[in-house]
Amino acid sequence: MLGHDQSRQQGSRRRDFRWPALLTPTGGGIAYGGDYNPDQWPEDVWDDDIRLMRKAGVNTVAIAIFSWDRIQPEEQRWDFAWLDRIITKLGEAGIAVDLATATASAPLWLYEKHPEVLPLERNGDVVNPGSRQSWRPTSGIFKSYALEVCRRLARRYGHNPYVTAWHVNNEYGWNNRHDYSADALQSFRQWCRQRYGSVSALNEAWGTSFWSQEVQSFDEVLLPCHMGNDAMANPSQQLDFERFCSDALKAFYKAERDELERICPDKPFTTNFMVSTDQCAMDYADWSDEVDFVSNDHYFTPGESHVDELLCSDSLVGSLALGKPWYLMEHSTSAVQWKPLNSRKRSGELMRDALAHVAMGADAINFFQWRQSRFGAEAFHSSMLPHAGEDSKVFREVCELGGILGRLAESGVQGSELVRSRSAILFDADCEWATQCRTLPTTKLSHWHDVREWYRAFLDVSQRADVVSLRSDWSGYDTIVLPTMLVLSEHAVKRIAAFAEEGGRVVIGYATGLADENYHIAVGGYPGMLRDIAGVRSEEFNVLGELPGEPETIALSNGYVSRLWANEVTGIGEHAEVLATYSGGDAREWDLDGVPAIVRNRYGRGEVYYVGCDLGREDIAAFLREGMKLSADEDPGVVHMRRRSADSCFDFYLNRSRETVLLSEISGSPIAGKGVQRIQTPASYRLSRDGFLVMKSPC
Ligand code: GLA
Ligand code: GLA
Repeated sequence: MLGHDQSRQQGSRRRDFRWPALLTPTGGGIAYGGDYNPDQWPEDVWDDDIRLMRKAGVNTVAIAIFSWDRIQPEEQRWDFAWLDRIITKLGEAGIAVDLATATASAPLWLYEKHPEVLPLERNGDVVNPGSRQSWRPTSGIFKSYALEVCRRLARRYGHNPYVTAWHVNNEYGWNNRHDYSADALQSFRQWCRQRYGSVSALNEAWGTSFWSQEVQSFDEVLLPCHMGNDAMANPSQQLDFERFCSDALKAFYKAERDELERICPDKPFTTNFMVSTDQCAMDYADWSDEVDFVSNDHYFTPGESHVDELLCSDSLVGSLALGKPWYLMEHSTSAVQWKPLNSRKRSGELMRDALAHVAMGADAINFFQWRQSRFGAEAFHSSMLPHAGEDSKVFREVCELGGILGRLAESGVQGSELVRSRSAILFDADCEWATQCRTLPTTKLSHWHDVREWYRAFLDVSQRADVVSLRSDWSGYDTIVLPTMLVLSEHAVKRIAAFAEEGGRVVIGYATGLADENYHIAVGGYPGMLRDIAGVRSEEFNVLGELPGEPETIALSNGYVSRLWANEVTGIGEHAEVLATYSGGDAREWDLDGVPAIVRNRYGRGEVYYVGCDLGREDIAAFLREGMKLSADEDPGVVHMRRRSADSCFDFYLNRSRETVLLSEISGSPIAGKGVQRIQTPASYRLSRDGFLVMKSPC
């Protein structure tokens, strides 16, 4: 049996990087546009759309994402005439088409005829049609219908010069990530058979001797469905189910892509990922091998973390793209309509966010959607052309952004690559899924959240870390951080150990390295998988929270404060040194006074920092500054990204604070900016709130 990450690495070869051409003379340029839904509008609006797209500098749109019912209104009736007309109109206006397969949402007749394609909820309820993605990724019937649409689209448009990329499906797993149907069960059994080879290997991996769960054949393998109100599902089975769900959707994606590719192999394929605040739903490190260019949908988090969260998500997307430019398939000009409170963007934020994505490596800036809908579930979602029309603040900013992106493209930004930082924060889908388990010392763990806390703390000390996939090659970094990486395979542990042995610095967070990839706890003292590397041994976790009469935090000897979690360290290794202990009355209350909280261990030629407690962002920043001596003198309100091409450097400066910030003595010639005031020579600038500046220099 192969370890999870090993088997995946061996299973797929990465596809070559291919980027969609624009309809410019060279095919180059930064792609600018958005989702376009002409089928929601009478055709006499289309000419106006095109006039305004040209005015805004739009050069690409994604169409037909939800148009299956228009394309195939009845099983035996196909209608491509409207699609022919709009693709021609767009192409003649110089606007390239990213053509979707239209398969994210099926027509109602299909669900009427084949209700057996509908997914089931965990408790067995049917997911009804009427929204989108009401289909089972494992349904053979559904797949055959979807592939027929792909086939017909490929035949009709595969050689159309205006269609320059394939947008396969849309946000896989948005509404059908977990399906508990009979089809899913059959596929899951097959998946387990392939992964484990024998029933005994599966029994071993799932620890089925617990609660009489031993299976005698793969036909007894179950999905982690609703098992009663009091039930607690097997964590190993749940983790495998998450992996299976990601794989099942990926298999559907590959089937759609392959169907297109058989007919037109020469246009690049993508599907839009969802790396954003609350979701990093699929194992995208694995998916990214299967696309020609990585694309992502990002929706901002209102409030003070807005910019930081955007940069953090983008950093992971850049890692998935292996440093190549990537495609921002969707973001919003202003408010969305799917949260309890939908904040708009302030003036300047639309532009600043778009430029932040470019700074982080995006060569395509797209929005959901072009023209704001008058009806349907997304009527109150902002767009490039809002309800107010052409004479509106948003549309004016959209036009201004088109101009700036055009200028950046002319300056050679497109194709340049983001320069790596010295520190990497590791992310892994397995760890994110593992922290979602409900039977842990606390249900408040979140790997992805803690990645963001560390990311922001780095920014607070004027450093920008990269967020990289655990499975990527991070051997070139000086420092790696492992935040709440609950499960780690032996293979991953070996890589981490080798990194430290060869002189790297490793930071191990709390609740990290407790279990292996099968969710088996490594015994002998925590963190079992990393005990030797960290040079600590702990026996219990001290979980804090709102418990009446109990302290909610515990102070450390250096003034930091532990919140949710404190590891009760009972021993440290011979090369380890205690940097801070728990201390004071609240620590005494929990027998933790004097117990090591932060430890540094010498390991090989490198060093390992063990942070066995849940520090707030300010304390993480203090630790980076004081404990690791990782800080710079620059104003932490400024964040700096450098993209580099063969002969030029593009330095992007953004204001991530709410105050005006100072950029002192920066080099290069300005090629774009907003909210910038030059104050003296040599080049120093003031950058107002939401301001940005892009400089170009030879390099
Ligand atoms: C997702 C979808 C779009 C749209 C937006 C709205 O990203 O892909 O179709 O629903 O959300 O924010
Ligand atoms: C109950 C059950 C035990 C065990 C404990 C855990 O008492 O009988 O099997 O699950 O809860 O608290």
